[in-house]
Amino acid sequence: MRRKDGKPQTKALRNKPIFDVGFKDSANALENSNKKIKKKHQVLSFFSGCGGLDFGFKGGFSVLGKNYEQLPFEIIGAYDSLQDAVECYNLNIDDNAHLADLTEVDVTTLPSVEILIGGFPCQDFSSSGPKTGLDGKRGKLYQILLNYMNVHKPRVVIGENVINLARMNNGEVLKKIVRDFESSGYHFDVWNLYAPDYGVPQSRKRLIFVGVRNDIKGFPVKPKPTYIGKPVTISEALHDLENVNDESITNQSQYFVASKASSGGGQGDTVNQADKVALCIRANSRGRIQFHYKLPRRLTVRECARVQTFPDEFVFPYTTQRNLTLIGNAVPPILAHAVARSIKNFLDAVDKGIDIEHSITEKREYKIHQTSQISLDI
Ligand SMILES: C[S@@+](CC[C@H](N)C(=O)[O-])C[C@H]1O[C@@H](n2cnc3c(N)ncnc32)[C@H](O)[C@@H]1O
Repeated sequence: MRRKDGKPQTKALRNKPIFDVGFKDSANALENSNKKIKKKHQVLSFFSGCGGLDFGFKGGFSVLGKNYEQLPFEIIGAYDSLQDAVECYNLNIDDNAHLADLTEVDVTTLPSVEILIGGFPCQDFSSSGPKTGLDGKRGKLYQILLNYMNVHKPRVVIGENVINLARMNNGEVLKKIVRDFESSGYHFDVWNLYAPDYGVPQSRKRLIFVGVRNDIKGFPVKPKPTYIGKPVTISEALHDLENVNDESITNQSQYFVASKASSGGGQGDTVNQADKVALCIRANSRGRIQFHYKLPRRLTVRECARVQTFPDEFVFPYTTQRNLTLIGNAVPPILAHAVARSIKNFLDAVDKGIDIEHSITEKREYKIHQTSQISLDI
């Protein structure tokens, strides 16, 4: 097949990544495991994907020149209905991810843990999806977290979703989810986090639902943004990959071939700017992932993983689109790490009997006005 302009078809060097081991067996992970800390808090993870959120909760990795310390969370079970996600998780994180359709799992059979985490599916809330919200089949899946809370009463619950959820139906969707969660005997706050404020070199805003059981005093403090006004740019994150076009760095030869953005081509045909953070990595790019800031091609799978803050030892074993689905769906690990640190500090304080001075009523991130509008602080 020839291209429209008559030039010969160019091909990405290979479509299958080469790797010996995933993150969990890499030198980096081994070094960290030598400094094992006593794991204190047991966690279950629902809708775990390839494990961006879970990886951040565990900590013990380096990325973009910074170390993220191990945290005292032990994920004893992770569940997802996508085989790619489960395999990729087990390759890189732990062997305890399970293939399961959570709508069919009897939550009473699951272990009781202190902390439940889950980025419930966002397609029905996303601005680029069908926007069916709570009427969509996947829009109701937050109720699986609720089912678990009703039975097992974990101390802390963390949910994650897209920012557009807060805008749907004038804020009614967010209010309903929070009301449902709170009906189970919890108080909730919703943090609106802008990933570049925490060192992620990518424009990504996410809602983090934070719930604490009603009998526990105090509330976790929203992680302090440490990069405001000085974000890590895409060129700072990717410059050392500019001359690598093979698998000497796993997943760096995988990309969708296209030499330039087509005119007026929409989100997926945008060119990144070297001095800015990367455009948001989408899970459903369908071959249209944004262009490199300098080179005449789209971003590679490794470059997407980097701007999502996965270390290079965290490998993605599939074809380009399948890998990008996992990467685009993930919570950036260093954003998850910031959230997890806040939960750790909170639990440390609770366990020492210190009343962490933070009242949910005063500090609620989102405000429900009488007009039913929800305003988000950022
Ligand atoms: C937004 S992604 C979660 C990403 C994950 N938090 C991370 O950081 O990598 C949502 C996940 O929910 C999974 N999922 C959707 N419906 C499911 C179901 N009924 N049971 C289990 N998992 C499901 C999808 O396969 C997808 O991996």
